[in-house]
Amino acid sequence: MAHGHQLTLFNRGKTCPFLFPAVEEIHGDRYQDLYLLSGKVWDVVIDTCGYHPAAVGRSAHYLNGAVERYIFISSISVYRDFSVPRLNEYSETRSWPEDGNPQDMSADTYGARKVLCELAVDEVFAGRSLHIRPGALAGPYESFGRVAYWLQRMARGGQVLAPGDPRQPLQLLDARDLASWIVRMAECKQTGIFNAVGPPKLLTFEEFLYTCQKVVKAGSAIKWVSEQRLLAEGVRPWTELPLWVPEFLRGLQEVRAQKAFGQGLICRPLEMTLQDTWEWMQEATPVWPEQPWLTPEREAFLLS
Ligand SMILES: NC(=O)c1ccc[n+]([C@@H]2O[C@H](COP(=O)([O-])OP(=O)(O)OC[C@H]3O[C@@H](n4cnc5c(N)ncnc54)[C@H](OP(=O)(O)O)[C@@H]3O)[C@@H](O)[C@H]2O)c1
Repeated sequence: MAHGHQLTLFNRGKTCPFLFPAVEEIHGDRYQDLYLLSGKVWDVVIDTCGYHPAAVGRSAHYLNGAVERYIFISSISVYRDFSVPRLNEYSETRSWPEDGNPQDMSADTYGARKVLCELAVDEVFAGRSLHIRPGALAGPYESFGRVAYWLQRMARGGQVLAPGDPRQPLQLLDARDLASWIVRMAECKQTGIFNAVGPPKLLTFEEFLYTCQKVVKAGSAIKWVSEQRLLAEGVRPWTELPLWVPEFLRGLQEVRAQKAFGQGLICRPLEMTLQDTWEWMQEATPVWPEQPWLTPEREAFLLS
């Protein structure tokens, strides 16, 4: 809006309703209520909740004629092999398993579904589509509580279990930086495929944890526990200890986004993202869908 655009938000009105009172909102479910969009035209659609290829295909067909261009928010999960470092937009993507159930919406099929969603958009908007593939997103209103886990953990104090190698790379992009870049990409009618991860300079897990400590201003001692021990105890990377990936999946945290940086993606300092997230957590007491993060008891056991 600050750039002089007119916006319409189409969502179910479930996630953070009332956040944008000045924006026109149409409330409906993309799976059954596309008709609510009829009779309107826009320059561009930015599809932020495409997880089901058939549904994304329906949206693309429905909006053909109503929008000039389609921006699809995909994911770096489209890539097939995360044992490979420095994946770029040309790296091999996942394919749908031959015996796969098309209705399988589990986390295991997330990446392959995103690939099919991109293709579904291109069936209608070939040459007029922009696919953005973000890595982990952060900032206020974060939807999974991954960064929040580490902020809360530092605030709780005591000995904090830190996973694996302190110098392992970590990629985190502030959703606000991603959003403002996408607006600029829409304005210049950019098309194609872009990874969107940050920061451009190497961030290590150690630096991330020290910055969390600094932001929450509580006394805590970081204790590194080896990857071998964590894996031997069955600790689940990413889904139990958020943002941690072991060596054999390191490519997940080393994705290249030179194309996006070349087109003006700018990342604010990590401390700003963490500070704003921490302030939001104090004000809003956010509730996430239940996450099976490492419990204090299990952490104490692993540290002992
Ligand atoms: N979060 C990350 O770290 C991350 C990383 C890589 C890629 N991505 C991608 O980025 C996009 C946004 O992620 P997110 O975590 O913010 O997603 P999200 O929680 O699914 O929400 C995105 C928005 O879509 C709306 N929405 C969800 N389901 C809808 C439906 N059936 N009909 C209409 N509106 C619907 C939600 O509002 P309502 O609930 O009010 O409908 C919300 O405003 C996704 O495509 C995701 O795959 C996210």
